[in-house]
Amino acid sequence: MRVCRTREEIRAAVRSFRAAGSFVGLVPTMGYLHEGHMELVRRARAGCDKVVVSIFVNPAQFGPSEDLDSYPRDEERDLRMLSAAGVDVVFIPDVAEIYRPGAQTHVEVEKLSRILMGRLRPGHFRGVTTVVAKLFNIIRPDRAYFGEKDYQQLQIIRRMTEDLDFNIEIAGVPTMREGDGLAMSSRNVRLSPQDRAAAPVLNRALVEAERRAREGETVEQLRDRIRAIIKGETRADLRALDIRDAQTLEPVRGRPPRPVVILLAARFGDVLLIDQRVVSSEGELK
Ligand code: PAF
Repeated sequence: MRVCRTREEIRAAVRSFRAAGSFVGLVPTMGYLHEGHMELVRRARAGCDKVVVSIFVNPAQFGPSEDLDSYPRDEERDLRMLSAAGVDVVFIPDVAEIYRPGAQTHVEVEKLSRILMGRLRPGHFRGVTTVVAKLFNIIRPDRAYFGEKDYQQLQIIRRMTEDLDFNIEIAGVPTMREGDGLAMSSRNVRLSPQDRAAAPVLNRALVEAERRAREGETVEQLRDRIRAIIKGETRADLRALDIRDAQTLEPVRGRPPRPVVILLAARFGDVLLIDQRVVSSEGELK
């Protein structure tokens, strides 16, 4: 497995793959890999000739009071995991390699970036789309893999890819969960033991809502039910609960004819966790 730290190195590596006619998959990450990331890598390994993984903790997507400095990092362990998974190239640029002095250009998907999590984390999605657009331009993969756990991020990246005519397929990969249902996330390691024990309440609320949606409950009833379940866990501070059209992320009411996505964000101590589930009156879709 090759490790590239500069744009020139990664471009040359991908150029040689292309020259050999290979189909190139990219898994963009911020490192501190867990099974959720490794599932993206496995999908890429199964679906592409060559697999590139990027590791870059992107300062542009963290707000001034957010956890950039305490974001977990372990490059050696990440590289061991990626090598064992059969990755061909890892791109690990430093901040100066990605954001050069004098840069003034950003990429923003205007409407989708400012709703839902975008309201809680102003500027976050602009940071995500800017770095993902840069990674797409630097690496030029044929397909890129993103987790459905970050549902809004995935929809935003799909929109950006279409709007800016990147000739790249976007593959969404279902959320990986711990045995007790907690969605895998690099942030889980920062939970206190008590908060870790409490956090699966998010999945429990989503599973119950999925069952109730199938029984024909309205969006308003689902919202009340989820709120009540999460309120029952005193360590959870529910920060956002939205039920939206699964494709457009537009608000929905009553008993919607099309699948909806339930999006949750809750704080446990100082750790903000998110989770999601797409449901419909026909049953859970993922
Ligand atoms: O989902 C993430 O880990 C990040 O937002 C991403 C897509 C790697 C961009 O920094």
